[in-house]
Amino acid sequence: MDEVIIKVRESGPYLIRGKVTLTDVDGNPYTVDGANIALCRCGGSQNKPFCDGTHRENGFAATERAAVVEQSVP
Ligand code: FES
Repeated sequence: MDEVIIKVRESGPYLIRGKVTLTDVDGNPYTVDGANIALCRCGGSQNKPFCDGTHRENGFAATERAAVVEQSVP
């Protein structure tokens, strides 16, 4: 199985790269074209759960980063 990568875009969607099955609340799969999908996290898309670019116009701002874990040298 290939690794699936989910990348958080700054003030934008979750980008998912890799083969996944995305289902609705009833377990019915969405039709997804291609290997990459963008999921809305701003709440403004008219095509949820997919991003439609509305985040660029609705003032959505999210710049959180993952915590950086410092490695100790033995
Ligand atoms: S993140 Fe793009 S429309 Fe919501």
